[in-house]
Amino acid sequence: MGDVAPTAAMVRLSPLRGTSGAGDLDGLVDEQLGHFGIDPGTVYGAALARMARRLYECGEDADAVWVTTQKALAQLDRADAGALFNAQKFLSFQCAKVLDTLMNPWRATYQSLRMDASSTSAKGPYAVFDNVPAIFSASPVVVRTATYSYASAEWVREAFCGKELMLDIYSRLLSPTSVALANHIVDLECGHLAAEYFAWNFSSGMAAIDATLGHVLGYEDVLVRSLNIYGGAFQLIHQWYGKPSNLNVAVETFSGHTAESARECWEAAATKHRDRLERGRKIYVYLESPCNPQGYCLDVPAICREAHAAGLRVVLDSTVATPFLQQSLQREDERERPDFVIHSYTKDIAGSGAALGGVVIARTADMFAPKGSPGWENTMFWNVYFVKGAFLDAQAASDIMLGAKTLVMRMLQKCINTIVLATFLDAHPHFHVQCNALPDSPNAALRKSQLRFGLPAPLFTAHIADGTVSRAAFTAFFDGLEPAFSHQISLGQTNSIVSCPALTTHSELDNDSLDAAGLKRTTVRFAVGCEDPKDLLAGLIASAQTNLDPACPGFSAKFMPLDTADALIRRVYLDAHAAYADAKPPMRAYLG
Ligand SMILES: Cc1ncc(COP(=O)(O)O)c(C=O)c1O
Repeated sequence: MGDVAPTAAMVRLSPLRGTSGAGDLDGLVDEQLGHFGIDPGTVYGAALARMARRLYECGEDADAVWVTTQKALAQLDRADAGALFNAQKFLSFQCAKVLDTLMNPWRATYQSLRMDASSTSAKGPYAVFDNVPAIFSASPVVVRTATYSYASAEWVREAFCGKELMLDIYSRLLSPTSVALANHIVDLECGHLAAEYFAWNFSSGMAAIDATLGHVLGYEDVLVRSLNIYGGAFQLIHQWYGKPSNLNVAVETFSGHTAESARECWEAAATKHRDRLERGRKIYVYLESPCNPQGYCLDVPAICREAHAAGLRVVLDSTVATPFLQQSLQREDERERPDFVIHSYTKDIAGSGAALGGVVIARTADMFAPKGSPGWENTMFWNVYFVKGAFLDAQAASDIMLGAKTLVMRMLQKCINTIVLATFLDAHPHFHVQCNALPDSPNAALRKSQLRFGLPAPLFTAHIADGTVSRAAFTAFFDGLEPAFSHQISLGQTNSIVSCPALTTHSELDNDSLDAAGLKRTTVRFAVGCEDPKDLLAGLIASAQTNLDPACPGFSAKFMPLDTADALIRRVYLDAHAAYADAKPPMRAYLG
């Protein structure tokens, strides 16, 4: 009985996991009882010893299940994998049932201590007793706590070194709700490659961008960025990272959408900043695709391939696409994948407009390693996440997960509405539309090759040709778009919104930067929602009738005829659904 040498899996379950000197399994059990001052000769001591012994064995069995599962999965067909899933689910319920049963003696022992009511009140409910059934909650539990109970001094010491991830220490660092969301976004973004990737959540999209730039950029590095990026990112990059008294990062911008345009920019940057590179500084690439505000796409895989060939790392803000339209980390050719993918959850992933959050997804080796293991200090966890404190609140994480359940349905309707709206506006002779949903858009080919199902991102801009209407009439038209289009700022909600980027989301850009970004003072950004597209068109026509016709007679009559609009909506609805259905592999592939 006593001659079983303790394995690593067993020692991990010991209260003395860092210092145990037990030479066999019985030794581990004795140590455990001794550590808590329990006499194994008592009736309850013998019962505890028996259970502890089996738990050590169970810990080893669980490790074996993990190892055999990893080996088996690649060989199992869908039926066998489903059976294995259900068998493991049942084992998990059995473990939880054992834990739940253990709560009875534990609670009774606690109650026998007969603490004074003032102590009972000050301590509050002993949460673990009643938290066990929460394992069976069908939605991830919203963990509203700053701190957590830990098992023993040696366990929590390992937790502080990132060697015991089951023990959360403090909700600014990790919370189970945030971890559930992080795991979920990796599944959504990385699909079959999820095991290679890891995510850290942040309190906003901007915090995620800042964390990524803060992680990669050093003093006097060079950042090559795409032209059209969110105004907040523009400000952060130029006015914080670029500020001489901060990191004095040199920022260079490329205006095209191709790898050639990006490459020319970093080659020119290498010449211009040769002195920096000679001092060991590095060039990094920052992309936003599809971009805010026009929804144009970059050739992300080609840019990544060339950047990696040149030894550069790439950051991609993929917020506007969501994983519905773009899954850059699932490219089979690893060189075509960005190194870091960022989403603002605040937008379409949450979808409600009621929760803020952001995330960075990258290869596990870039994101986390236990303290002390090779390269641990250069992982995002220890380099920025652990120390900066921009952590995602559990309630927000839960709201985002609930919202994400309807991502696909929302996005499909939004893409349909985008094609309808852009086509309808573009058919009017005085509207100029920048949207790659239009077949003759210079960015249409990239939309088709880059975005899933060939559908456009639900974001575009339009302006009325210069000199057609007065500024006052335009402003009245814009203000008259409510309630069909909400006067709000944050893209990615279920309702359609309009804004003037030059006055709002891109007001950080100076006049030259606005011109370079193709933004006029009267450019309207449409962030398209899920409404009935006919209500959206009706709202446009009505505001034009009220506000533009008096100044520019016949303006509204130049919109496409109503029966043409009916036919357009029907066609787009059917085509988009067909594109979505046709992109699915045949049934045969689902059973392989
Ligand atoms: C493309 C893009 N990235 C990032 C952000 C920042 O996200 P958050 O508002 O969650 O900080 C925004 C905000 O509008 C955005 O449009």
